Amino acid sequence: RTVYVNGEYLPEDQAKVSIFDRGFLMADGVYEVTSVLDGKLVDFDGHAVRLARSLAELDMPSPVTTEELLEIHRQLVSRNNIEEGLVYLQITRGAPADRDFAFPDPEETPRTIVLFTQNKPGLANSPAAAKGASVISIPDMRWARRDIKTVQLLYPSMGKMMAKAAGADDAWLVEDGAVTEGTSNNAYIVKDGVIITRQLSNDILHGITRAAVLRFANEAQMQIEERAFTVEEAKAADEAFTTSASAFVMPVVSIDGQTLGDGAPGPVALRLREIYLDEMR
Ligand code: PDD
Repeated sequence: RTVYVNGEYLPEDQAKVSIFDRGFLMADGVYEVTSVLDGKLVDFDGHAVRLARSLAELDMPSPVTTEELLEIHRQLVSRNNIEEGLVYLQITRGAPADRDFAFPDPEETPRTIVLFTQNKPGLANSPAAAKGASVISIPDMRWARRDIKTVQLLYPSMGKMMAKAAGADDAWLVEDGAVTEGTSNNAYIVKDGVIITRQLSNDILHGITRAAVLRFANEAQMQIEERAFTVEEAKAADEAFTTSASAFVMPVVSIDGQTLGDGAPGPVALRLREIYLDEMR
């Protein structure tokens, strides 16, 4: 696989970053995951805008322009022959001479930028989506700036492991009785034909897939309520689903062992998945 590191395209085993990199020592970095369908990037502009916002919130000047970023994405998709898959991008505050809590001067310490692809044939036609996912609810113990897409992903990883230990596919995070989002996706329920998903704030990541799916739902005259919902409400919903760049629209068929509807992916989730894949291709 060819990867990109700080201006160079290299075979993955020759790509290196410093042990002093603040991404490694302090999770001082941000990332994006952009999907690829039919060899084309899905919603690159949305991801570029969110990346710029994450960097600005952390006072990290970008090491590349949006045009350069697009070119690097395209080069990697082409050099690695990706038809369906992902491009992962990470920018960290770089590697100062020593470990220090204070941010280094950006003039003296350049940001580190790394990109790589993941080939995922069958991403659009996924059997997991046809079956639907089971989720458990767990307390949301992340920091309070979930709107910034940082590489600080230990709690979401622990959440995935808790789900696995419980025989489920994923976890939904709960704060003050309400669902914030999934470990790596935005969460939705459907009740009496109304799509309910948490409103944007610092409590959740502003999903790029979420924005597109809500736009398509609106265009299809579906009803949307952007508000917090409880786990009890979710368990009593007609259906549920999640959205993310890595799984598009994923139906959810059970919550904490409680089956939703007849236990099969719901019609709203399946329709939105189809519309999303159609529109984005
Ligand atoms: N995760 N919420 C969280 C906490 C996420 O990590 C993600 C994405 C989303 C969905 O955002 P988007 O639609 O822009 O992908 C919501 C990526 C895919 C990941 O960490 O792999």
